[in-house]
Amino acid sequence: MKVIEIKTDTKSSKIYIGESIQNLKNYLPQCKVVIVTDEVVSGIYRSRFSEYPVIEIGVGEKIKTIDTLEFIFNRFIELEVDRSTYIVAVGGGIVCDVTGFAASVFMRGLRFGFVSTTLLSQVDASVGGKNGVNYHRYKNMIGVFNQPDFVICDTEMLKTLDRKEFIAGFAEIVKGGAIRDENLFRYLENNWQKALEMDTEVINHLVYESVMVKSRVVEADEKEKGERRLLNFGHTFAHSFEKLVDILHGEAVSIGMMVASGISEKLGYLKSQERDRIRQLLKNIGLPVSIGLDVTKLLAAARQDKKREGETIHLILLSRIGEAFSHKIKLNKLEELVYDMRSDFR
Ligand SMILES: NC(=O)c1ccc[n+]([C@@H]2O[C@H](COP(=O)([O-])OP(=O)(O)OC[C@H]3O[C@@H](n4cnc5c(N)ncnc54)[C@H](O)[C@@H]3O)[C@@H](O)[C@H]2O)c1
Ligand SMILES: [Zn+2]
Repeated sequence: MKVIEIKTDTKSSKIYIGESIQNLKNYLPQCKVVIVTDEVVSGIYRSRFSEYPVIEIGVGEKIKTIDTLEFIFNRFIELEVDRSTYIVAVGGGIVCDVTGFAASVFMRGLRFGFVSTTLLSQVDASVGGKNGVNYHRYKNMIGVFNQPDFVICDTEMLKTLDRKEFIAGFAEIVKGGAIRDENLFRYLENNWQKALEMDTEVINHLVYESVMVKSRVVEADEKEKGERRLLNFGHTFAHSFEKLVDILHGEAVSIGMMVASGISEKLGYLKSQERDRIRQLLKNIGLPVSIGLDVTKLLAAARQDKKREGETIHLILLSRIGEAFSHKIKLNKLEELVYDMRSDFR
């Protein structure tokens, strides 16, 4: 097992990579504990936390709502949760995002920790203290920054994950390497086959290095005023794809990274060989690199990005694998570029 500590102005949080859910009790104080999980995770792993009361929510992005928060608050009241109660989320990014928010605001804040059970949440969602819910069609619109006390990344639990969900998680690993860590990128280029076979050593290494990338960025900029924006590499377009077609977040990020790499190359920042390396790695992993989508619809969706500032948008581009920067671009210029590149991602 390996441990990474994230220290921000407000709190310190520890991530345990390769730890088992069987040892959860070692991380909990002597007090009442309530588990929040989803019905799928509960169906498979209920016996691992049977000594605690459990709140079970549904699955899918559609349940990441204020209604679900209300459901959790009602169950907290039924279970007589008070300020001394400890809350643990056991699940993927959705369970962790919703539970982290519920625990942060119920009675002005309860202590909480996560057992992160998907590849995407281990390498990304459960690290960094962003939590919240969607509001109408706006993703993650209501929430707070608040770090969990601990995150257990039990990589053995990934073995029960749906294959498509598992593969989608790799998009965020590729992103971490592309923006900040060429060694991580190269490691995945050399070990993707073993990773897909779920070789424990390789998976633990990838999760560890990805958490290192994210924690360094978050420590430097917890509230996303500057450097944390780099984590949005590929995400401006990904959010548009997610609005327009039924696609997993990681899959959308994969295609979004190809569009952003294409723009980086077109603007003369990134060598074409580097872009080819990214494309090849994503393809090897089994992630999509193109999408059959009408470019006009895509651009209309990109205009609705919540990070847009008037007629400009901050786009994350690459100067090489391992180095990203934020580039302010006018929306009409972006539209021109994407329009020129339309054959690339169809
Ligand atoms: N807070 C952040 O910084 C951050 C970052 C990235 C993504 N996110 C959020 O994370 C969410 C996506 O998270 P996700 O990809 O983990 O999806 P998810 O939580 O929906 O989990 C995917 C599916 O896998 C199932 N599952 C989870 N663990 C399992 C296991 N071990 N075995 C079998 N099945 C399992 C779940 O029940 C679910 O059906 C999005 O809402 C996204 O906005 C948040
Ligand atoms: Zn993401």
